[in-house]
Amino acid sequence: MKHIALIGSTGSIGTATLTVCEEHPERFRVVGLAAGKNVRLIAEQVRKFKPRLVCLASEKAAAALASCIDTRKTRVMWGSEGLTAVATMPAAETLVSAISGAAGLLPTFSAIRAGKDVALANKEALVMAGELLVREASRSGKQIIPVDSEHSAVAQILNGRGLKDVRRIILTASGGPFLGFSKKDLARVTPRQALRHPRWKMGSKVTIDSATLMNKGLEVIEAHWLFGIAPEHIQVVIHPQSIIHSMVEYIDGTVLAHLSQPDMKGPIAYALSGPERLSNTVKPLPVAAMGNLTFREPDVKRFPALGLAYRALAEGNLMPAVMNAANEIAVQKFLEKRISFPAITKTIEKVMGAFHFSAAMSLESVLWADRWARMEAEKAIEKLH
Ligand SMILES: NC(=O)c1ccc[n+]([C@@H]2O[C@H](COP(=O)([O-])OP(=O)(O)OC[C@H]3O[C@@H](n4cnc5c(N)ncnc54)[C@H](OP(=O)(O)O)[C@@H]3O)[C@@H](O)[C@H]2O)c1
Repeated sequence: MKHIALIGSTGSIGTATLTVCEEHPERFRVVGLAAGKNVRLIAEQVRKFKPRLVCLASEKAAAALASCIDTRKTRVMWGSEGLTAVATMPAAETLVSAISGAAGLLPTFSAIRAGKDVALANKEALVMAGELLVREASRSGKQIIPVDSEHSAVAQILNGRGLKDVRRIILTASGGPFLGFSKKDLARVTPRQALRHPRWKMGSKVTIDSATLMNKGLEVIEAHWLFGIAPEHIQVVIHPQSIIHSMVEYIDGTVLAHLSQPDMKGPIAYALSGPERLSNTVKPLPVAAMGNLTFREPDVKRFPALGLAYRALAEGNLMPAVMNAANEIAVQKFLEKRISFPAITKTIEKVMGAFHFSAAMSLESVLWADRWARMEAEKAIEKLH
């Protein structure tokens, strides 16, 4: 029986994780849950899974939750202290980190430091502070296990053999809803259109990242830290059908690909039980009826975010944290209809161009860079008006 703490339980990955746990009650016990503000959904989850500890983002939300569950069985906390308490709770051996954005960094880092294995969906934590997380995991002898479908695919292909004989890894990208759009069309797209992803049902931030291709940029940085592979050996191809999730090319020219339905329950279950495979409700792949699987180069002129991510990775140090923070602010402003779709990447580029600092890598320096970039992004957006 694996005891699991889950942060981000009310989100797309969080609810899929709970479905996996529900499908295998003999394998998984959920001992801690945390979310932001969705009191109604987390109350249902508490009644069903009976965790010992639960946390919401604000005192008000926590009080609302406490009034509708049995607090003799489940302790309710709130804020960043509560989030870290769930992530590090002694009763859990594995944390599923499924918060969206930079808010996931501290609890994820604390869990690794506290000796938990981390099933990581919160790619932003690894983008901001990959060096620190990987160092901490190797110190505690614990694993950072990918939940992202592309990285899960690579891990499944490598199957514990590391990078020996690997020439490159190829991450696939669906291309998002605006794949064929011209620059002129992109200037007019609305948040509503951007939130309509053709293949995956995800939270709003990652869906916009997917539309700009920043999601793939974040995943390139994530792959670098998870597999210890140099950026020049990581390639991205557009594959609109989202059936092949990644490929690994070996020095003899052999390419191994991982195929499955685009359903996150597969990679989540593998992160929790791999290399053992669990049966689940993911639909079988209709191989004979699948039709064409197509591939093409990403167009970095129309979608410059991918190039920015390679640049941030090459510059290293605090630049990926700066890029991530600027992206979070710009995505939020786009969702609020304050800036256009192309202004998302323009804002990030401006903020990265203005950052000329470096510092020894520490949580403090990463959080400082994150704050700096958020303020700089707000200023850059003000100037756009
Ligand atoms: N969705 C996918 O298919 C997918 C695939 C691969 C990787 N990922 C990654 O997984 C992460 C989560 O994505 P998602 O699509 O599941 O996002 P989502 O649906 O927006 O869910 C985000 C979750 O985080 C919680 N949350 C947000 N801010 C919080 C805070 N300050 N404190 C506590 N909880 C907070 C939300 O709570 P409330 O809703 O209650 O406010 C919600 O439970 C992202 O890093 C994303 O890039 C997602």
